[in-house]
Amino acid sequence: MARNVQNMRELEVAKQAARAGGEIVKRYFHDGVVMRANEQSYNLVSDADVESEQAIVDVIRQSFPNHAVLGEESHRDDTDAEHLWVIDPLDGTNNFAHHIPHFAISIAYYCGGQPACSLVYNPIRDDWYQAVRDQGAFYNSERASVADHDRLDQTLVGVGFYYDRGALMEATLKAIGDLFRSQIHGIRRFGTASLDLCQVGIGMYGAFFEYELSPWDFAAGSLFVQEAGGRVTTCCGEPLPLAKMSVLATNNRLHEAVLQVVRSQLPTP
Ligand code: IPD
Ligand code: CA
Ligand code: CA
Repeated sequence: MARNVQNMRELEVAKQAARAGGEIVKRYFHDGVVMRANEQSYNLVSDADVESEQAIVDVIRQSFPNHAVLGEESHRDDTDAEHLWVIDPLDGTNNFAHHIPHFAISIAYYCGGQPACSLVYNPIRDDWYQAVRDQGAFYNSERASVADHDRLDQTLVGVGFYYDRGALMEATLKAIGDLFRSQIHGIRRFGTASLDLCQVGIGMYGAFFEYELSPWDFAAGSLFVQEAGGRVTTCCGEPLPLAKMSVLATNNRLHEAVLQVVRSQLPTP
């Protein structure tokens, strides 16, 4: 009981932090996106990413000054810390830069190496995806649950491409081909991994996979999927560590069928 009450406090702080990040991201989205130079022309970073992360971390540190933070832009504390926040201050920067209102703030709190609670927040739609370990997942005020179909010819599959334009991109395209040949209803690539995962959790997709994601992309969304009754593993079917990894999330019933396809195309390192 004590542990759950504790997690609720972290969830409240995560909400305040997501709101603070969301305000910044929304302001830039409406007033004008300011991009920053990056090594790869297609791996985009904007002022909003950096400022949102700082605002989120400031809120967290006001309540929990000793907690560790793993944030995409500028916080790289030890991932083995007892109390760890994993943050993507703007997931879907490419959408954001092209004025597509589909991006999110993603915040997960880990306690003792396990995800305890998480939030994914789309500030434009004011959509909240919230999960607390062993207490379920909620999409706004509704309890979330995965789809109940169990055949590939009944499902829609979400996919993501990492910034790689070589073997991983080719492998993803091949896996998509294999899935189409298995008569899936269709493929979707909406460009925000945290929201893709949540869309498995609310039953829109039967499955989502991406051959390389970072912890800040999947930490919050993975807990949401699991708490909504789904399953998340690597694309080899292993438990997902908090590291750069391939990710497969499904409604559970489809896991083995989709795993067979995505594992067979995954390039060997
Ligand atoms: C990206 C998005 C995208 C996924 C990429 C991620 P970013 O995150 O989640 O959907 O395909 O692999 O890196 O860079 O927009 O935070
Ligand atoms: Ca991301
Ligand atoms: Ca990001």
